[in-house]
Amino acid sequence: MSAILREVIKAVDALAAQSGVDLQSSICEHPCMVLGEAVQIKRAIQNVIINAVQASAEKKGSVAVTCTPKDFYVDIRIEDNGSGITPAQMSKIFDPYFTTKQGKSGTGLGLYITKKVLEDHNGSIKVDSTPDRGTTFTIRLPLLNS
Ligand SMILES: Nc1ncnc2c1ncn2[C@@H]1O[C@H](COP(=O)(O)OP(=O)(O)OP(=O)(O)O)[C@@H](O)[C@H]1O
Ligand SMILES: [Mg+2]
Repeated sequence: MSAILREVIKAVDALAAQSGVDLQSSICEHPCMVLGEAVQIKRAIQNVIINAVQASAEKKGSVAVTCTPKDFYVDIRIEDNGSGITPAQMSKIFDPYFTTKQGKSGTGLGLYITKKVLEDHNGSIKVDSTPDRGTTFTIRLPLLNS
């Protein structure tokens, strides 16, 4: 997981810098193995981090990524202090083609694919948000050999 997270952060760094968003990460150093398709898992996490950066751009806010291994699973938290998600939007964010980024290249497939990939890996994604204050996504994946 730490290798994947490092790659994702590296890939999103330029977008964050361009957007004036402070992207912080604290990544677990000790081995933290997940069984699955690395490319898909990488893309799934990257989708969520890009969303967080995009949601924080207007405020020039910040995004924090943390990785916390527990006994049987690892939690990856992506916390932003951006636009937040309204209750009406919340019920739709994982639906295919739901986007609030009309005219800004959003396809609305990001979270739909992310959720599918995580479920294919026996993982999950949950979200907690306060409109105008920010959003936290928590991605959970089972650890190998646990
Ligand atoms: N961190 C976030 N803060 C605020 N809104 C969010 C956040 N993450 C997702 N959303 C909302 O959920 C919607 C769906 O997200 P999703 O990633 O599926 O599509 P998208 O980002 O609009 O398009 P794409 O991922 O294809 O570029 C977004 O348009 C946005 O309204
Ligand atoms: Mg997206």
